[in-house]
Amino acid sequence: MRYARIAGWGKYVPERILSNQDLEKVVETSDEWIYSRTGIRERRIAAPDETVTTMAIAASRAALTVACLDPTELDLIIVGTSSSDYLVPAAASMIQDGLGAEHAAAFDLRAGCSGFVYSLAVGTQFIATGMYRHVLVIGAEIISKFIDWRDRDTCILFGDGAGAVVLQASEAPTGMLTCNLGSNGADYDALFMPGGGSKHPFCQQVLDRGWHHMKMDGKRIYRFAVSTPAQVALQALDTAGLSPEDIALVVPHQANARITQSICQRLGVPEEKVFVNIQRYGNTSAASIPIALCEAAEEGRMKPGDYILLLGFGAGLTWAAAVVRWGVPEPLLSWLFSWDSIRERIPVAEATATARRAGVALLAAVSALLVATFSWSKGRK
Ligand code: ACO
Repeated sequence: MRYARIAGWGKYVPERILSNQDLEKVVETSDEWIYSRTGIRERRIAAPDETVTTMAIAASRAALTVACLDPTELDLIIVGTSSSDYLVPAAASMIQDGLGAEHAAAFDLRAGCSGFVYSLAVGTQFIATGMYRHVLVIGAEIISKFIDWRDRDTCILFGDGAGAVVLQASEAPTGMLTCNLGSNGADYDALFMPGGGSKHPFCQQVLDRGWHHMKMDGKRIYRFAVSTPAQVALQALDTAGLSPEDIALVVPHQANARITQSICQRLGVPEEKVFVNIQRYGNTSAASIPIALCEAAEEGRMKPGDYILLLGFGAGLTWAAAVVRWGVPEPLLSWLFSWDSIRERIPVAEATATARRAGVALLAAVSALLVATFSWSKGRK
């Protein structure tokens, strides 16, 4: 059995902060209303020259640094996003080029706010089958570009950002152990952008009707979010042979602090075991879980061997619960003799240079010995 260790993590959030007070100047709302209903204080908004691709590249570079991996060693890049730079081509291909990941296959995966956990599941399968050794999984979104900034129902919720993890083949029981993915397309219009796709390609009518903006039925999403995710999380735990008490940390999609509280109550998980950063970033859709996971790792919230629960839910409607085991060490023998670990312990270029120097020295010594032996035997004659 091959597992997919989470070997590196990274995030990128734009510099520009949009606070609730800033929004008070744009729509009829208040910091008190937004914070009490959603838990959000501020969110990050991408600069005009920032895109899903640029943000994802920054997050990926950070993740590759943590994993000590060169981009040329990546076999596959999967990008969970619903706000790719273009409809065609996939952001993944431009990210592959930007990173210099010349040997990697690349594709986008669209599953709303569940996109990162879906992508993690797919990347894990490629490693489990033995097809690939290193997979980069990204969640990146720039929802601010699709918001109607006059619509107070939606404009207060979303932010921009990107997060990434590096998956590495492992013999140890680590990484995603079980996952529970699902979809209910009957509710596709609870959160959708009517225009710009093949049903209503861009035209004046799309612009006139505002179909190039996100449309959301907040109450319908709320009802879904406080019921289905908790159920699917319990099923994922059950498949892994675990119960909520075994979980060291829950990293849920950061949609709304009230939704998170309700899910935790249903799961019976205390609040201190739940990672929350929605107050700083708002809802960054598919980027929210990898950004939160990265911050949790940086804060030392999980230790090797801990079980963590990732819980995504969103447009589609989709859901994705995953039980992940954090950083279990490799079995000693396979670590000692695997080519990757040998290469990590002995830098190849240095080892080659040392071997070359040793070879030259040996050759010189043998030649000197031969010359000395020859002169000595000649002298005796
Ligand atoms: N500021 C002030 N008042 C507002 C605002 C605002 N930004 N938005 C709505 N209101 C008003 C409404 O007009 C309404 O006024 P009324 O009673 O006079 O009609 C009142 O506040 C209450 O509105 P509700 O819609 O009942 O507010 P609710 O408590 O349901 O909260 C919210 C709305 C926050 C959108 C909630 O329904 C929610 O979080 N839903 C989930 C949406 C979500 O997470 N979407 C993200 C994408 S999908 C995902 O990530 C899972």
